[in-house]
Amino acid sequence: MKKDIIILGIESSCDDTSAAVIRDGLLLSNVTASQAVHESYGGVVPELASRAHQQNIVPVVDQALKRAGVGREELSAIAFTRGPGLMGSLLVGVSFAKGLAASLGIPMIDVNHLQGHVLAHFIRTEGEDYCPPTFPFLCLLVSGGNSQIVKVNAYNDMEIIGQTIDDAAGEAIDKAAKVMGLGYPGGPVIDRLARQGNPDAYQFSKPHIPGYNYSFSGLKTSFLYNLRDWVKDDPDFIEHHKEDLAASYEKAVVDTLMNKLRLAARDLGIRQVAVAGGVSANTGLRNAFHEYAKRYRWQVYIPKFGYTTDNAAMIAITGYFKFQDRDFCPMEAPAYSRVTMK
Ligand code: KG4
Repeated sequence: MKKDIIILGIESSCDDTSAAVIRDGLLLSNVTASQAVHESYGGVVPELASRAHQQNIVPVVDQALKRAGVGREELSAIAFTRGPGLMGSLLVGVSFAKGLAASLGIPMIDVNHLQGHVLAHFIRTEGEDYCPPTFPFLCLLVSGGNSQIVKVNAYNDMEIIGQTIDDAAGEAIDKAAKVMGLGYPGGPVIDRLARQGNPDAYQFSKPHIPGYNYSFSGLKTSFLYNLRDWVKDDPDFIEHHKEDLAASYEKAVVDTLMNKLRLAARDLGIRQVAVAGGVSANTGLRNAFHEYAKRYRWQVYIPKFGYTTDNAAMIAITGYFKFQDRDFCPMEAPAYSRVTMK
């Protein structure tokens, strides 16, 4: 009798400790412990993140197995985020995965975090609609640390055709929120305020970078300098105009992202277009995807909210595909912090 393929996925690249279980491609559980400790610092503090991962990893994995109704001895392999990410955070998940795999005598599967975000579109749960993109498709990958346009030829064949040359889209949004005193992470707050503001109230300088690459540092600086001048004239400027500021800035980021994506889709003749990563939770970006779908006859794929930010379900599904290729990794494989796409 054919044995079920059961994969435990582990994610610990930044400030979310997450574990998920997938049986034969179907998600059984996905448990995430987020770290509130960073809020008061206005950003992720790497040292605190790794300590919190140490505290969370055992209970999170136990919960994921319990909710899935799966015993450790039933696992076929352990998939884990090997990079990119914060080294101290990654080491917790990587070391845990190695220890567990060694004790159970099962293979390990290393997963590139960015590849995981893209393959989040293939997460399938019992009783829910499952309409994944077909190959090839384009994926706009936008998070706190990355902004890329990826051409996805197959599960195991992806090319980065454009990426940011400086800041990521999420970083640019978080920085704007920070100077407006909106706390961290600012993305969800900017999103909420933008819904009540006028997106055409203010203009900020937009980048002109050749090809499909992005740049957000100029936009961020333009926002900062404009705001400084306005606040000089009216100390309550931010409080009185925060909705319009959020809406206009969000629009500048979304327009920049969508323009390059449209060029890439046109040049490559691809009409299947997906979005992934934390910033894909943004309402303005989601609306833009629907608009472009109508205007350019795109078939668009937008992930469920739970799979936009860091989660282990995307690591487990990537592990499931790699398991079928027998694409395992050796015990000595080290974590990597830099951005690469294998
Ligand atoms: O993929 P992700 O969870 O992990 C990192 O790359 O760390 O992305 C986090 C980013 C943050 O910059 C956050 O502000 C942004 O995603 N984000 C949003 C929204 N929700 C999260 N940005 C805009 N609108 C949102 N609703």
